[in-house]
Amino acid sequence: MKRLATAALAALIARGALADPPAPLKPGPGEDVTSAHCNACHTSDYIVMNSVFLTADQWKAEVTKMRTAFGAPIDDATAAQIVAYLAAHYAAPAKP
Ligand code: HEC
Repeated sequence: MKRLATAALAALIARGALADPPAPLKPGPGEDVTSAHCNACHTSDYIVMNSVFLTADQWKAEVTKMRTAFGAPIDDATAAQIVAYLAAHYAAPAKP
C-alpha cells in the first residue's frame, strides 16, 4: 500500500498535477466554493493528492472531518456543494 501510494504520488508530480503554486481545481459547478473553503488552511493540492485514494463517500467523510475535527467554517448547504464537486471531479473508483 505504501509503495502504491508513493508511485501514485510520483505519477501526479510527474504530470505537473502538484504544481507550486498549487494547481487550480478543475472547472465545474462547485469549483468556486471548493476553492474558497478548501484553500484556507492548506492548499487544494490536498484534494489533488487524495483523489488517488478517496471515493465519493470518503470525500463526504473528509469534508465532515474538516468541519468537525478542524473547525472549517462551512455550512451544510455549502458542504453539500463541495462534496458533489469532489465526487464528480476527484473521486477514486469505489473499491469492489
Ligand atoms: C480549518 C482549517 C481547514 C480547512 C478550512 C480545511 N482543512 Fe483540510 N485539513 C486541515 C488539517 C489541520 C489537516 C490535517 C493536517 C495536515 O495534514 O496538514 C487537513 C487535512 C486534509 C486532507 C488530508 C487527509 C487528512 O484527512 O488528513 C484532505 C484531503 C483535506 N484536508 C481536504 C480538505 C477539503 C476538501 C477542504 C474543504 C472542504 C478542507 N480540507 C478544508 C484543516 C483544514
